[in-house]
Amino acid sequence: ALADIGVIGLGVMGKNLALNIVDNGYRVAAFDLDQAKVEAAVSQAATEVPGRAQVLVGCNNITELLASLSKPRLLLLSVPAGSPVDGVCDALLQAGIEADDIVIDTGNSLWTDTVARERHYQGKLVFFSSAVSGGEVGARFGPSLMPSGSEAAWQRLAPIWRAIAAKVDPQTGLPLVRLEPGNPVREGEPCAAYIGPAGAGHYVKMVHNGIEYADMQLICEAYQLLSQVLGLSATEVADIFQRWNQGKLNSYLMEISAEVLRQQDPLSGKPLVEMILDKAGQKGTGLWTAVSSLQVGCPAPTIAEAVYARALSNQKPLRQTLATRLKGAEPMGQVEAEAFIADLEQALYCAKICCYAQGFQLMAMHAKEQGWTLDFRAIASIWRAGCIIRATFLQSIMSAFEAEPQLSNLLLDERFASALNQSQQAWRRLVSGAVLAGVPAPCITSALAYYDGYRCETLPANLLQGQRDYFGAHSFERTDTPAGEKYHLNWSSPKRELVKL
Ligand code: 6PG
Repeated sequence: ALADIGVIGLGVMGKNLALNIVDNGYRVAAFDLDQAKVEAAVSQAATEVPGRAQVLVGCNNITELLASLSKPRLLLLSVPAGSPVDGVCDALLQAGIEADDIVIDTGNSLWTDTVARERHYQGKLVFFSSAVSGGEVGARFGPSLMPSGSEAAWQRLAPIWRAIAAKVDPQTGLPLVRLEPGNPVREGEPCAAYIGPAGAGHYVKMVHNGIEYADMQLICEAYQLLSQVLGLSATEVADIFQRWNQGKLNSYLMEISAEVLRQQDPLSGKPLVEMILDKAGQKGTGLWTAVSSLQVGCPAPTIAEAVYARALSNQKPLRQTLATRLKGAEPMGQVEAEAFIADLEQALYCAKICCYAQGFQLMAMHAKEQGWTLDFRAIASIWRAGCIIRATFLQSIMSAFEAEPQLSNLLLDERFASALNQSQQAWRRLVSGAVLAGVPAPCITSALAYYDGYRCETLPANLLQGQRDYFGAHSFERTDTPAGEKYHLNWSSPKRELVKL
Protein backbone atom coordinates (compact mmCIF):
# COMPACT_ATOMS: atom_id res chain seq x y z
CA ALA A 1 0.00 0.00 0.00
CA LEU A 2 1.04 3.56 -0.58
CA ALA A 3 2.28 5.60 2.38
CA ASP A 4 0.14 8.28 4.03
CA ILE A 5 2.91 10.81 4.45
CA GLY A 6 6.50 11.36 3.34
CA VAL A 7 9.19 12.66 5.66
CA ILE A 8 12.19 14.47 4.20
CA GLY A 9 15.11 15.01 6.58
CA LEU A 10 15.76 12.36 9.21
CA GLY A 11 17.78 14.33 11.73
CA VAL A 12 16.73 14.21 15.37
CA MET A 13 13.39 15.95 14.79
CA GLY A 14 12.47 14.35 11.45
CA LYS A 15 13.23 10.81 12.56
CA ASN A 16 11.31 11.14 15.80
CA LEU A 17 8.31 12.76 14.11
CA ALA A 18 8.33 9.89 11.60
CA LEU A 19 8.38 7.28 14.40
CA ASN A 20 5.60 9.12 16.23
CA ILE A 21 3.46 9.10 13.06
CA VAL A 22 4.15 5.37 12.67
CA ASP A 23 3.13 4.76 16.31
CA ASN A 24 -0.18 6.37 15.49
CA GLY A 25 -0.99 3.90 12.76
CA TYR A 26 0.06 5.77 9.63
CA ARG A 27 2.39 4.53 6.95
CA VAL A 28 5.44 6.70 6.40
CA ALA A 29 7.88 6.93 3.49
CA ALA A 30 11.14 8.56 4.47
CA PHE A 31 14.10 10.13 2.73
CA ASP A 32 17.34 11.82 3.73
CA LEU A 33 20.34 12.77 1.63
CA ASP A 34 22.32 10.67 4.08
CA GLN A 35 21.29 7.05 3.42
CA ALA A 36 22.69 5.97 6.80
CA LYS A 37 19.99 8.06 8.44
CA VAL A 38 17.31 6.40 6.32
CA GLU A 39 18.56 2.97 7.34
CA ALA A 40 18.73 3.98 11.02
CA ALA A 41 15.14 5.24 10.98
CA VAL A 42 13.86 2.14 9.19
CA SER A 43 15.60 -0.22 11.59
CA GLN A 44 14.45 1.76 14.62
CA ALA A 45 10.85 1.55 13.41
CA ALA A 46 11.25 -2.19 12.86
CA THR A 47 12.52 -2.75 16.42
CA GLU A 48 10.16 -0.36 18.13
CA VAL A 49 6.98 -1.29 16.29
CA PRO A 50 7.70 -4.92 15.31
CA GLY A 51 4.06 -5.85 14.81
CA ARG A 52 3.79 -3.49 11.89
CA ALA A 53 6.64 -4.25 9.56
CA GLN A 54 7.00 -1.98 6.55
CA VAL A 55 5.20 0.94 8.24
CA LEU A 56 8.27 3.09 7.69
CA VAL A 57 9.62 2.69 4.18
CA GLY A 58 13.04 4.07 3.35
CA CYS A 59 13.52 5.73 -0.05
CA ASN A 60 16.72 6.18 -2.05
CA ASN A 61 15.76 9.43 -3.69
CA ILE A 62 12.98 11.99 -4.00
CA THR A 63 11.44 10.43 -7.10
CA GLU A 64 11.09 7.14 -5.25
CA LEU A 65 9.61 9.00 -2.29
CA LEU A 66 6.98 10.69 -4.45
CA ALA A 67 6.09 7.38 -6.06
CA SER A 68 5.46 5.75 -2.70
CA LEU A 69 2.86 8.27 -1.49
CA SER A 70 -0.89 8.33 -1.93
CA LYS A 71 -2.27 11.43 -3.67
CA PRO A 72 -2.68 14.28 -3.05
CA ARG A 73 0.62 13.80 -1.30
CA LEU A 74 1.57 14.98 2.16
CA LEU A 75 5.24 15.74 2.65
CA LEU A 76 6.77 16.73 5.96
CA LEU A 77 10.04 18.67 5.71
CA SER A 78 12.41 18.53 8.64
CA VAL A 79 15.44 20.35 7.32
CA PRO A 80 17.35 23.34 8.73
CA ALA A 81 15.57 26.69 8.38
CA GLY A 82 16.69 28.89 5.50
CA SER A 83 17.88 27.89 2.03
CA PRO A 84 17.62 24.09 2.60
CA VAL A 85 13.81 24.48 2.62
CA ASP A 86 13.89 26.08 -0.84
CA GLY A 87 16.41 23.48 -1.98
CA VAL A 88 14.08 20.63 -1.08
CA CYS A 89 11.03 22.33 -2.61
CA ASP A 90 12.91 22.85 -5.85
CA ALA A 91 14.05 19.22 -5.86
CA LEU A 92 10.42 18.16 -5.30
CA LEU A 93 9.33 20.27 -8.27
CA GLN A 94 11.98 18.69 -10.47
CA ALA A 95 10.89 15.25 -9.36
CA GLY A 96 7.32 15.97 -10.47
CA ILE A 97 5.42 16.99 -7.35
CA GLU A 98 1.89 18.11 -8.26
CA ALA A 99 0.01 21.35 -7.61
CA ASP A 100 -2.30 19.89 -4.99
CA ASP A 101 0.45 18.07 -3.07
CA ILE A 102 1.07 19.57 0.36
CA VAL A 103 4.56 20.36 1.65
CA ILE A 104 4.76 21.04 5.38
CA ASP A 105 7.78 22.93 6.69
CA THR A 106 8.32 21.93 10.33
CA GLY A 107 11.58 23.80 10.96
CA ASN A 108 12.12 27.04 12.87
CA SER A 109 11.72 29.14 9.72
CA LEU A 110 11.49 32.91 9.78
CA TRP A 111 7.78 33.67 9.40
CA THR A 112 8.31 36.10 6.52
CA ASP A 113 10.14 33.37 4.58
CA THR A 114 7.07 31.19 5.03
CA VAL A 115 4.77 33.91 3.68
CA ALA A 116 7.07 34.40 0.69
CA ARG A 117 7.32 30.66 0.06
CA GLU A 118 3.57 30.14 0.09
CA ARG A 119 3.28 32.81 -2.59
CA HIS A 120 6.30 31.62 -4.56
CA TYR A 121 5.12 28.01 -4.84
CA GLN A 122 1.48 28.83 -5.51
CA GLY A 123 0.16 26.74 -8.40
CA LYS A 124 3.18 24.41 -8.17
CA LEU A 125 2.64 22.85 -4.75
CA VAL A 126 0.75 23.79 -1.59
CA PHE A 127 3.33 25.24 0.77
CA PHE A 128 2.07 24.74 4.33
CA SER A 129 3.95 25.10 7.57
CA SER A 130 3.73 23.76 11.05
CA ALA A 131 6.06 24.88 13.76
CA VAL A 132 6.98 22.11 16.18
CA SER A 133 8.09 22.47 19.77
CA GLY A 134 9.28 19.87 22.21
CA GLY A 135 12.73 18.78 21.14
CA GLU A 136 13.61 15.14 20.59
CA VAL A 137 11.31 13.56 23.18
CA GLY A 138 8.43 15.83 22.18
CA ALA A 139 8.80 14.89 18.53
CA ARG A 140 8.86 11.19 19.44
CA PHE A 141 6.02 11.05 21.98
CA GLY A 142 3.99 14.22 21.55
CA PRO A 143 5.06 17.72 20.46
CA SER A 144 3.14 20.97 20.50
CA LEU A 145 2.19 21.81 16.91
CA MET A 146 1.47 25.24 15.44
CA PRO A 147 0.19 24.74 11.87
CA SER A 148 -0.69 27.59 9.51
CA GLY A 149 -1.43 28.22 5.84
CA SER A 150 -4.19 26.93 3.56
CA GLU A 151 -7.23 25.78 5.57
CA ALA A 152 -7.93 23.01 3.09
CA ALA A 153 -4.41 21.67 3.61
CA TRP A 154 -5.00 21.78 7.36
CA GLN A 155 -8.17 19.69 6.97
CA ARG A 156 -6.12 17.03 5.24
CA LEU A 157 -3.31 17.11 7.78
CA ALA A 158 -5.36 17.56 10.96
CA PRO A 159 -6.06 13.88 11.79
CA ILE A 160 -2.35 13.01 11.71
CA TRP A 161 -1.35 16.17 13.56
CA ARG A 162 -3.95 15.66 16.31
CA ALA A 163 -2.86 12.05 16.68
CA ILE A 164 0.85 12.76 17.09
CA ALA A 165 0.51 15.88 19.24
CA ALA A 166 1.04 15.96 23.00
CA LYS A 167 -2.18 15.47 24.97
CA VAL A 168 -3.58 17.32 27.94
CA ASP A 169 -5.96 15.94 30.55
CA PRO A 170 -9.05 18.14 30.06
CA GLN A 171 -9.92 17.90 33.76
CA THR A 172 -6.58 18.89 35.26
CA GLY A 173 -4.92 20.70 32.36
CA LEU A 174 -1.84 18.56 32.94
CA PRO A 175 0.12 16.72 30.23
CA LEU A 176 -0.74 13.07 29.66
CA VAL A 177 2.59 11.45 28.98
CA ARG A 178 3.63 7.93 28.07
CA LEU A 179 7.13 7.41 26.75
CA GLU A 180 6.47 4.00 25.21
CA PRO A 181 7.17 3.29 21.54
CA GLY A 182 4.14 1.80 19.85
CA ASN A 183 1.80 2.88 22.62
CA PRO A 184 0.90 6.54 22.10
CA VAL A 185 -1.48 8.48 24.33
CA ARG A 186 -4.76 8.59 22.43
CA GLU A 187 -7.02 10.30 24.94
CA GLY A 188 -7.03 13.96 26.04
CA GLU A 189 -6.95 17.28 24.23
CA PRO A 190 -4.31 17.43 21.47
CA CYS A 191 -1.76 20.25 21.52
CA ALA A 192 -2.29 21.08 17.86
CA ALA A 193 -4.42 23.98 16.73
CA TYR A 194 -4.68 25.76 13.38
CA ILE A 195 -3.09 29.15 14.01
CA GLY A 196 -3.96 31.16 10.90
CA PRO A 197 -2.75 32.15 7.42
CA ALA A 198 0.76 31.41 6.12
CA GLY A 199 3.45 32.59 8.51
CA ALA A 200 1.16 32.83 11.56
CA GLY A 201 2.26 29.48 13.01
CA HIS A 202 5.93 30.27 12.63
CA TYR A 203 5.40 33.72 14.13
CA VAL A 204 3.64 32.22 17.15
CA LYS A 205 6.41 29.63 17.52
CA MET A 206 8.99 32.41 17.26
CA VAL A 207 7.32 34.21 20.17
CA HIS A 208 7.15 30.89 22.04
CA ASN A 209 10.92 30.77 21.67
CA GLY A 210 11.31 34.39 22.79
CA ILE A 211 9.40 33.48 25.94
CA GLU A 212 11.53 30.32 26.20
CA TYR A 213 14.72 32.45 26.12
CA ALA A 214 13.35 34.70 28.89
CA ASP A 215 12.07 31.79 30.99
CA MET A 216 15.48 30.08 30.74
CA GLN A 217 17.39 33.25 31.58
CA LEU A 218 15.15 33.90 34.62
CA ILE A 219 16.04 30.48 35.99
CA CYS A 220 19.73 31.10 35.24
CA GLU A 221 19.59 34.41 37.13
CA ALA A 222 18.05 32.61 40.11
CA TYR A 223 20.94 30.11 39.95
CA GLN A 224 23.55 32.88 39.92
CA LEU A 225 21.87 34.73 42.80
CA LEU A 226 21.56 31.60 44.91
CA SER A 227 25.17 30.63 44.26
CA GLN A 228 26.73 34.06 44.62
CA VAL A 229 24.61 35.75 47.27
CA LEU A 230 23.96 32.71 49.44
CA GLY A 231 26.99 30.65 48.41
CA LEU A 232 24.88 27.57 47.67
CA SER A 233 26.27 24.57 45.80
CA ALA A 234 24.80 23.33 42.53
CA THR A 235 23.04 20.49 44.38
CA GLU A 236 21.58 22.88 46.93
CA VAL A 237 20.23 25.06 44.12
CA ALA A 238 18.83 21.91 42.48
CA ASP A 239 16.97 21.13 45.72
CA ILE A 240 15.40 24.60 45.74
CA PHE A 241 14.42 24.37 42.06
CA GLN A 242 12.90 20.97 42.68
CA ARG A 243 10.84 22.41 45.53
CA TRP A 244 9.76 25.40 43.42
CA ASN A 245 8.75 23.00 40.69
CA GLN A 246 6.07 21.67 43.03
CA GLY A 247 4.53 25.14 43.35
CA LYS A 248 3.48 28.00 41.12
CA LEU A 249 6.87 28.01 39.37
CA ASN A 250 6.21 24.52 38.07
CA SER A 251 7.55 24.14 34.55
CA TYR A 252 9.44 21.74 32.35
CA LEU A 253 12.34 24.21 32.25
CA MET A 254 12.48 24.37 36.06
CA GLU A 255 12.43 20.58 36.21
CA ILE A 256 15.27 20.09 33.74
CA SER A 257 17.31 22.90 35.33
CA ALA A 258 17.24 21.00 38.62
CA GLU A 259 18.34 17.88 36.78
CA VAL A 260 21.18 19.67 35.00
CA LEU A 261 22.40 21.13 38.31
CA ARG A 262 22.35 17.72 39.97
CA GLN A 263 24.35 16.00 37.24
CA GLN A 264 27.91 15.01 38.06
CA ASP A 265 30.61 15.38 35.43
CA PRO A 266 31.79 11.88 34.46
CA LEU A 267 35.33 13.21 33.91
CA SER A 268 36.07 15.43 36.91
CA GLY A 269 33.46 14.22 39.37
CA LYS A 270 32.44 17.86 39.92
CA PRO A 271 28.95 19.14 39.19
CA LEU A 272 28.73 19.06 35.39
CA VAL A 273 27.31 22.59 35.28
CA GLU A 274 30.61 23.90 36.70
CA MET A 275 32.49 22.28 33.83
CA ILE A 276 30.23 23.66 31.09
CA LEU A 277 31.68 26.78 29.45
CA ASP A 278 29.55 29.84 30.19
CA LYS A 279 28.99 30.90 26.57
CA ALA A 280 25.39 30.56 25.37
CA GLY A 281 24.53 29.60 21.81
CA GLN A 282 21.48 30.68 19.85
CA LYS A 283 19.92 29.97 16.51
CA GLY A 284 17.98 33.18 16.03
CA THR A 285 14.37 32.79 17.10
CA GLY A 286 14.78 34.80 20.34
CA LEU A 287 16.55 37.54 18.44
CA TRP A 288 13.77 37.61 15.82
CA THR A 289 11.21 38.00 18.61
CA ALA A 290 13.10 40.93 20.09
CA VAL A 291 13.48 42.52 16.65
CA SER A 292 9.79 42.06 15.96
CA SER A 293 8.87 43.66 19.29
CA LEU A 294 10.93 46.72 18.33
CA GLN A 295 9.35 46.85 14.89
CA VAL A 296 5.81 46.48 16.18
CA GLY A 297 6.43 48.91 19.04
CA CYS A 298 5.45 46.39 21.68
CA PRO A 299 7.52 46.63 24.86
CA ALA A 300 9.16 43.24 25.43
CA PRO A 301 12.27 44.17 27.42
CA THR A 302 12.54 40.90 29.31
CA ILE A 303 12.66 38.89 26.10
CA ALA A 304 15.20 41.32 24.60
CA GLU A 305 17.33 41.18 27.76
CA ALA A 306 17.41 37.40 27.51
CA VAL A 307 18.90 37.71 24.02
CA TYR A 308 21.42 40.31 25.23
CA ALA A 309 22.34 38.04 28.15
CA ARG A 310 23.34 35.35 25.66
CA ALA A 311 25.33 37.92 23.66
CA LEU A 312 27.11 39.15 26.79
CA SER A 313 27.94 35.60 27.78
CA ASN A 314 29.75 35.26 24.48
CA GLN A 315 32.07 38.16 25.28
CA LYS A 316 34.08 35.95 27.59
CA PRO A 317 37.55 37.48 26.98
CA LEU A 318 36.22 40.99 27.62
CA ARG A 319 34.46 39.80 30.75
CA GLN A 320 37.68 38.17 31.92
CA THR A 321 39.57 41.44 31.50
CA LEU A 322 36.91 43.64 33.08
CA ALA A 323 36.47 41.24 35.98
CA THR A 324 39.91 42.31 37.16
CA ARG A 325 39.45 46.03 36.50
CA LEU A 326 35.96 47.06 37.51
CA LYS A 327 34.88 47.20 41.10
CA GLY A 328 31.98 45.22 42.43
CA ALA A 329 29.68 45.87 45.35
CA GLU A 330 30.90 46.20 48.90
CA PRO A 331 30.32 43.06 50.96
CA MET A 332 26.72 42.75 52.05
CA GLY A 333 25.74 42.29 55.64
CA GLN A 334 24.25 39.01 56.74
CA VAL A 335 21.63 37.83 54.24
CA GLU A 336 18.83 35.82 55.76
CA ALA A 337 18.80 32.80 53.43
CA GLU A 338 15.21 31.63 53.90
CA ALA A 339 13.79 35.12 53.37
CA PHE A 340 16.01 35.66 50.30
CA ILE A 341 14.88 32.37 48.77
CA ALA A 342 11.24 33.19 49.47
CA ASP A 343 11.61 36.63 47.84
CA LEU A 344 13.38 35.10 44.86
CA GLU A 345 10.50 32.68 44.31
CA GLN A 346 8.01 35.57 44.31
CA ALA A 347 10.26 37.67 42.07
CA LEU A 348 10.61 34.88 39.54
CA TYR A 349 6.87 34.38 39.42
CA CYS A 350 6.23 38.09 38.86
CA ALA A 351 8.91 38.29 36.18
CA LYS A 352 7.46 35.22 34.52
CA ILE A 353 4.01 36.81 34.36
CA CYS A 354 5.59 39.88 32.76
CA CYS A 355 7.51 37.89 30.19
CA TYR A 356 4.37 36.03 29.09
CA ALA A 357 2.47 39.33 29.11
CA GLN A 358 5.11 40.68 26.72
CA GLY A 359 4.92 37.66 24.43
CA PHE A 360 1.13 37.58 24.23
CA GLN A 361 0.84 41.34 23.73
CA LEU A 362 3.44 41.13 20.97
CA MET A 363 1.44 38.42 19.19
CA ALA A 364 -1.74 40.50 19.53
CA MET A 365 -0.18 43.70 18.19
CA HIS A 366 1.58 41.93 15.35
CA ALA A 367 -1.56 39.96 14.42
CA LYS A 368 -3.50 43.20 14.21
CA GLU A 369 -0.90 44.62 11.84
CA GLN A 370 -1.06 41.50 9.67
CA GLY A 371 -4.84 41.15 9.77
CA TRP A 372 -4.58 37.74 11.45
CA THR A 373 -7.18 36.61 13.95
CA LEU A 374 -5.29 34.67 16.57
CA ASP A 375 -7.05 32.60 19.22
CA PHE A 376 -4.93 33.22 22.31
CA ARG A 377 -6.88 30.79 24.43
CA ALA A 378 -6.04 28.07 21.90
CA ILE A 379 -2.40 29.14 21.76
CA ALA A 380 -2.09 28.94 25.56
CA SER A 381 -3.90 25.61 25.47
CA ILE A 382 -1.50 23.98 22.99
CA TRP A 383 1.48 25.21 25.02
CA ARG A 384 0.28 23.30 28.09
CA ALA A 385 2.02 20.11 26.98
CA GLY A 386 4.67 18.98 24.54
CA CYS A 387 6.48 22.29 24.14
CA ILE A 388 9.57 23.60 25.92
CA ILE A 389 7.71 26.29 27.91
CA ARG A 390 5.02 23.90 29.14
CA ALA A 391 3.98 24.71 32.69
CA THR A 392 0.86 24.62 34.85
CA PHE A 393 1.02 28.42 34.51
CA LEU A 394 -0.28 28.09 30.92
CA GLN A 395 -3.60 26.87 32.30
CA SER A 396 -4.02 30.24 34.09
CA ILE A 397 -3.21 32.09 30.87
CA MET A 398 -5.79 29.99 29.09
CA SER A 399 -8.38 30.92 31.74
CA ALA A 400 -7.48 34.59 31.38
CA PHE A 401 -8.24 34.49 27.64
CA GLU A 402 -11.32 32.38 28.25
CA ALA A 403 -12.65 35.15 30.48
CA GLU A 404 -11.60 37.90 28.05
CA PRO A 405 -10.66 36.73 24.54
CA GLN A 406 -9.53 40.23 23.54
CA LEU A 407 -7.35 40.80 26.62
CA SER A 408 -4.68 43.21 25.38
CA ASN A 409 -2.21 42.49 28.18
CA LEU A 410 -2.13 39.76 30.82
CA LEU A 411 -1.50 42.39 33.51
CA LEU A 412 -5.16 43.35 33.04
CA ASP A 413 -6.32 39.91 34.14
CA GLU A 414 -7.60 40.03 37.70
CA ARG A 415 -5.85 36.89 38.88
CA PHE A 416 -2.47 37.88 37.47
CA ALA A 417 -2.88 41.44 38.75
CA SER A 418 -3.63 40.22 42.24
CA ALA A 419 -0.67 37.80 42.15
CA LEU A 420 1.58 40.73 41.17
CA ASN A 421 0.06 43.00 43.82
CA GLN A 422 0.74 40.37 46.43
CA SER A 423 4.34 39.71 45.45
CA GLN A 424 5.64 43.01 44.14
CA GLN A 425 7.22 44.11 47.42
CA ALA A 426 9.20 40.85 47.65
CA TRP A 427 10.22 41.37 44.01
CA ARG A 428 11.53 44.86 44.82
CA ARG A 429 13.47 43.54 47.84
CA LEU A 430 15.02 40.86 45.67
CA VAL A 431 15.98 43.27 42.88
CA SER A 432 17.57 45.70 45.34
CA GLY A 433 19.38 42.79 46.98
CA ALA A 434 20.74 41.71 43.59
CA VAL A 435 21.83 45.25 42.75
CA LEU A 436 23.51 45.71 46.13
CA ALA A 437 25.27 42.38 45.77
CA GLY A 438 26.46 43.32 42.29
CA VAL A 439 24.93 40.23 40.71
CA PRO A 440 23.38 40.94 37.29
CA ALA A 441 19.76 39.88 36.93
CA PRO A 442 18.72 41.60 33.70
CA CYS A 443 15.49 39.69 33.14
CA ILE A 444 14.20 39.85 36.74
CA THR A 445 15.12 43.54 36.86
CA SER A 446 13.80 44.59 33.45
CA ALA A 447 10.52 42.84 34.17
CA LEU A 448 10.14 44.99 37.28
CA ALA A 449 10.80 48.14 35.25
CA TYR A 450 8.19 46.92 32.76
CA TYR A 451 5.71 46.41 35.58
CA ASP A 452 6.44 49.83 37.05
CA GLY A 453 6.32 51.41 33.60
CA TYR A 454 2.81 50.13 33.01
CA ARG A 455 1.80 51.36 36.47
CA CYS A 456 2.76 54.94 35.58
CA GLU A 457 -0.14 56.98 34.38
CA THR A 458 2.38 59.69 33.56
CA LEU A 459 5.80 58.96 32.10
CA PRO A 460 8.61 61.43 31.37
CA ALA A 461 7.84 61.17 27.67
CA ASN A 462 6.44 64.71 28.01
CA LEU A 463 10.00 65.94 28.51
CA LEU A 464 11.14 63.72 25.69
CA GLN A 465 8.63 65.30 23.32
CA GLY A 466 9.88 68.68 24.51
CA GLN A 467 13.44 67.68 23.65
CA ARG A 468 12.38 66.45 20.22
CA ASP A 469 10.47 69.62 19.53
CA TYR A 470 13.43 71.72 20.72
CA PHE A 471 16.09 70.33 18.45
CA GLY A 472 14.06 69.02 15.56
CA ALA A 473 10.69 70.83 15.55
CA HIS A 474 9.10 67.41 15.81
CA SER A 475 5.98 68.87 17.50
CA PHE A 476 3.95 67.57 20.44
CA GLU A 477 0.37 67.04 21.52
CA ARG A 478 -1.01 68.86 24.56
CA THR A 479 -2.83 67.36 27.51
CA ASP A 480 -5.61 69.92 27.26
CA THR A 481 -6.46 69.82 23.53
CA PRO A 482 -7.98 67.06 21.35
CA ALA A 483 -5.76 64.07 20.53
CA GLY A 484 -3.91 64.43 17.26
CA GLU A 485 -3.66 68.22 17.42
CA LYS A 486 0.02 69.13 17.00
CA TYR A 487 1.89 72.06 18.51
CA HIS A 488 5.38 73.44 18.13
CA LEU A 489 7.13 75.99 20.30
CA ASN A 490 9.39 78.35 18.47
CA TRP A 491 12.37 77.61 20.71
CA SER A 492 14.90 79.75 18.86
CA SER A 493 12.83 82.93 18.75
CA PRO A 494 13.12 85.24 21.75
CA LYS A 495 9.35 85.25 22.21
CA ARG A 496 9.02 81.49 22.07
CA GLU A 497 5.59 81.54 20.43
CA LEU A 498 3.41 78.45 20.58
CA VAL A 499 2.24 77.46 17.11
CA LYS A 500 -0.68 75.18 16.39
CA LEU A 501 0.24 73.10 13.34
C1 6PG B 1 11.42 24.00 20.94
C2 6PG B 1 12.74 24.73 20.96
C3 6PG B 1 13.52 24.41 19.75
C4 6PG B 1 14.98 24.78 19.85
C5 6PG B 1 15.26 26.18 19.38
C6 6PG B 1 15.92 27.13 20.34
O1 6PG B 1 10.42 24.66 21.11
O2 6PG B 1 11.45 22.78 20.78
O3 6PG B 1 12.51 26.11 21.02
O4 6PG B 1 12.86 24.92 18.65
O5 6PG B 1 15.54 24.44 21.03
O6 6PG B 1 16.01 25.99 18.25
O7 6PG B 1 17.27 27.04 20.18
P1 6PG B 1 18.40 28.11 20.44
O8 6PG B 1 18.50 28.24 21.93
O9 6PG B 1 19.58 27.40 19.87
O10 6PG B 1 18.09 29.37 19.74
